[in-house]
Amino acid sequence: MVHCIGIGPGEPSWLTLRARDLIAGAEVVAGFDAVVNFVRPHIAPGATVITMGYKDQVEKLAEMAVHHHAGKKCAVVFMGDVHFSGFQFWERVERACGHRVESVPGISSAQVLASRARVCFDETTFITFHRRGDIEPFKKHLASALEVGRNAIVIPLPWSFMPKDIAADLVARGIPPQHKIEVWENLSREEASWHGTLGECTRDFSDMSILVIRALEPMPTGLEGEP
Ligand SMILES: C[S@@+](CC[C@H](N)C(=O)[O-])C[C@H]1O[C@@H](n2cnc3c(N)ncnc32)[C@H](O)[C@@H]1O
Repeated sequence: MVHCIGIGPGEPSWLTLRARDLIAGAEVVAGFDAVVNFVRPHIAPGATVITMGYKDQVEKLAEMAVHHHAGKKCAVVFMGDVHFSGFQFWERVERACGHRVESVPGISSAQVLASRARVCFDETTFITFHRRGDIEPFKKHLASALEVGRNAIVIPLPWSFMPKDIAADLVARGIPPQHKIEVWENLSREEASWHGTLGECTRDFSDMSILVIRALEPMPTGLEGEP
């Protein structure tokens, strides 16, 4: 059995009990170096640990798949939740194994951001630029989400499409620079936040950053007129 496991935003108390137990019970734990490091205390002594980077992920996942096909229990760890900005890696795991692989949800950085910045998911579009391939369709999608009055929670692409590039691109597409924006760094750990408008967003942020761009007009809550 292989599980793709979301480990939460980094700080250990945000790891779910289910994720912790699956990691502790795994004979093989694989993932990007930084992500594996967050869960090292939970990995069983004697388990095989396969760490990887962007360049060697296909070969390292193939190595994990050999263990899997030999009957070993494998866990592949993901930052946050598997289902936000994790699909390409999940698909690579499945390609390596040759079949579908179960996911185990984790607490996404988007959820922590929503909590800190008081964002309603129902009114929000989620977009990641942290992906391989052409990001132009996602740039257009972000602009159109804001045009129809939705908020957007956005993961930048280190280092070529960071918050200041996203803001400049939106303004160039005709999105009003008055949209409010918040950029949050290192959520659940040494958190830092910056608040301003699209027009004011010109500074640099770390690669561990996520942002919310608010709709110009908040959607009606349905509670208007209630005492
Ligand atoms: C490949 S994406 C994975 C996102 C992850 N699946 C999630 O649900 O949070 C990695 C990017 O997510 C953002 N991110 C992940 N954890 C974060 C955190 N604790 N604080 C701020 N941003 C974070 C950063 O932009 C980081 O470069």
